Amino acid sequence: MKIAILSGDGIGPEIVAQAVKVLEALRNDGLKLELEPGLLGGCAVDAAGDPFPEATRKLVAEADAVILGAVGGPRYDMLPRQLRPEQGLLSIRRVLNLFANLRPAILYPELANASTLKPEVVAGLDILIVRELTGDIYFGEPRGIERRDGQRVGYNTMIYSEAEIRRIARVAFQAARKRSRRLCSVDKMNVLECTQLWRDVVTETAGEYPDVELSHMLVDNAAMQLVRNPRHFDVVVTGNMFGDILSDEASMLTGSIGMLPSASLDEKSKGLYEPIHGSAPDIAGQDVANPLATILSVAMMLRHTFDLAPDASRIESAVKKVLAQGYRTADIYEPGMEKVGTRAMGDAVLANL
Ligand code: IPM
Ligand code: MG
Repeated sequence: MKIAILSGDGIGPEIVAQAVKVLEALRNDGLKLELEPGLLGGCAVDAAGDPFPEATRKLVAEADAVILGAVGGPRYDMLPRQLRPEQGLLSIRRVLNLFANLRPAILYPELANASTLKPEVVAGLDILIVRELTGDIYFGEPRGIERRDGQRVGYNTMIYSEAEIRRIARVAFQAARKRSRRLCSVDKMNVLECTQLWRDVVTETAGEYPDVELSHMLVDNAAMQLVRNPRHFDVVVTGNMFGDILSDEASMLTGSIGMLPSASLDEKSKGLYEPIHGSAPDIAGQDVANPLATILSVAMMLRHTFDLAPDASRIESAVKKVLAQGYRTADIYEPGMEKVGTRAMGDAVLANL
């Protein structure tokens, strides 16, 4: 199993180092893992003048899976768009055809008080957001900023083909089958033709999954229901931009964005695995970032790409034990708990593995 390790920027290297410790422990226990480091994002701009350099393209094309920390930082925001770290992330998704982004939002009972919502609203929360990741307004053409009639106008194109909608819908229906068999598709069909097609194609695809109960919701209402009654949701499927926004919202229901892993998969379950949080430049290099989302991303990789559910569960149980033992990084700390840094949190997971 060949795994590309892209630490990225900001807190990326610190949190990925903890995930690597976990991978090395599994290797010592007999898993045949090859770990190959590479550059993506701002660090790649610094080293090679390109956020997704040729060497990284080759590395990830040959790897079975990719672990990514996070990319970006204020230093790079002034660069032309093509050279920004985010462009590296968008390109790797596109080049590897990682169209299916799975973003689970699970509330660990120990962290019920870390949420800004009342514990009784979020208790037992377990949502899976299935976000389409290689289409929509993120990649649609034409796009740009230009002068028209003496002033600047900016424009993007929201576009989905029915094939793109159908393949992400199938991923979501299949995920729903493994859970509570309820799927909610989110769109804005009252205004946007593109998402009218989305609703039509998802509804057609439902015919292949008669055992799954499909509902539809407009995105503004979904944003409201997520904070009003989040447990209403089980599996949610939506397009690239709505999924970007709703997954950040869902993550905060669980108390900290520092807890949530993600998987981005192609048609053959090759995947890129990353925490859903960003590079947090304000706390980089201070040994305070929460490495659990990255460690949980390793568990998702073992389950989805390598079909090693028992090893994935082993990591997830170790994380649960660490929380039960009271270890907390700053983002999930509450009085009475044991405050630890990034490395100590990684060590605590290893001890429980
Ligand atoms: C995410 C991020 C990215 C996105 C950015 C960094 C390009 O917000 O993975 O959710 O918008 O997809
Ligand atoms: Mg986002």
